[in-house]
Amino acid sequence: MNIAVAGTGYVGLVAGVCFAEVGHTVTCVDVDEKKVKLMESGVSPIYEEGLEELMKKNNATGRLKYTTDYASAYAGADAIFIGVGTPEMPDGSANLSFIATVCRQIAESVVHDCLVVVKSTVPVGTNDKVEQFIKDFLDKDVKVEVASNPEFLAQGTAVHDTLHAARIIIGTESKEAETKLMEIYEPFHLPIVSVKRRSAEMIKYACNDFLALKISYMNDIANLCELVGADIEDVAKGMSYDKRIGERFLNAGIGFGGSCFPKDTKALKFLAKQNGYELKTVEACVDVNTRQKTRLYEKAKDRMITFDGLKVAVLGLTFKAGTDDLREAPSSDNIKLLLEQGADIYAFDPAGVPRAKLQFPEGEIGRGRMNYVASPEEALDQANICFVFTEWPEIKSIRPADYKRLMKIPLVYDGRNLYSTEEMREEKVEYYSIGR
Ligand code: UDX
Repeated sequence: MNIAVAGTGYVGLVAGVCFAEVGHTVTCVDVDEKKVKLMESGVSPIYEEGLEELMKKNNATGRLKYTTDYASAYAGADAIFIGVGTPEMPDGSANLSFIATVCRQIAESVVHDCLVVVKSTVPVGTNDKVEQFIKDFLDKDVKVEVASNPEFLAQGTAVHDTLHAARIIIGTESKEAETKLMEIYEPFHLPIVSVKRRSAEMIKYACNDFLALKISYMNDIANLCELVGADIEDVAKGMSYDKRIGERFLNAGIGFGGSCFPKDTKALKFLAKQNGYELKTVEACVDVNTRQKTRLYEKAKDRMITFDGLKVAVLGLTFKAGTDDLREAPSSDNIKLLLEQGADIYAFDPAGVPRAKLQFPEGEIGRGRMNYVASPEEALDQANICFVFTEWPEIKSIRPADYKRLMKIPLVYDGRNLYSTEEMREEKVEYYSIGR
């Protein structure tokens, strides 16, 4: 099958590469000429394990191409996948302007019947609008049908999540569209759930928001554990044996970040409101998460007279390990507050520093100062206080004795529960974590 993919971010590029890997002929379309050149040379614009290997392999076979020339890419395609971003608007709704641009380009370019597949996360009902919008701008006698095919990959494991997905969701309004999508996914040998378009769109939000709820629930229970003397790690372990609950996504911490959960919870809340419905569970999930993100900072503020002029070690910047993404990362909220309080921050992150520097440039910021260092040891050296924000292996490998040895005052606020409280106590590290 001849496939064109619009957008080369996490969703578009990973999908394109994986389609080529299973044997389809794929053209990835992006507006950025430099990015296209980079991808042609086998370099991935995103940090994703295993992606570059697959790009190089499939570039070499000639099955995977990149272009800025959307017109030729769309003209020759049997199916066009849309994987562009749907960022959050100030009111929590999804910004569909990138999707709209692609729709107009598709309408201008197609010369024979084709299927347009929306992979981006879009509010329920958007696929109907996409189909209408394309039809409005179409000036040739061709049939363009739209299908929904939401993406469930997680950053850091995107290639694996795509090639070994738990299921493929396809949402179509006709037998032809369903058959074509089934054919495209046949070589993946994965379970396919075929539903109507609006249900497919809803499945994506329902899944993400359910997982986000699970995390907020665990964070809520963790905070209560602290008050009543229970240990959230033991509680989670006890819960995990119940198959109805499941063992994953039970980790309490400093709240969820990233490009999906924060955006998709707000978007579903917005959609409900638009339809005159109050989605109380998701609203609570968002509130709990907002509070959780700065919980450690608040605890530290209670303990300290001031952060002014203190050396603050920050271990981990990205919203989770295995990615260079800082979108909605809890570290940002905390760093902002610490800088406002005059902290001299020494931050370490194995992948997130270049992006972090765009948000917090090195040097004086307000009353505080931002420094970036190449190792956790440098961050900890003579530090007065340390915050752990991401569970990178490089950070996990720091032992309790290292905090004691390196820091001026061994005072650690750990948002990822990386250490046992006993171990820290034995090493005489003053240790605060979540739910213990
Ligand atoms: C998520 C979904 O997992 C994926 O299916 C969807 O397509 C996009 O959104 P992603 O944002 O890449 O993927 O990361 P994920 O691993 O789900 O983590 C999201 C956030 O939740 C991170 O900040 C992570 O640290 C946090 N988290 C996750 C917890 O706090 N506790 C957990 O138990 C799991």
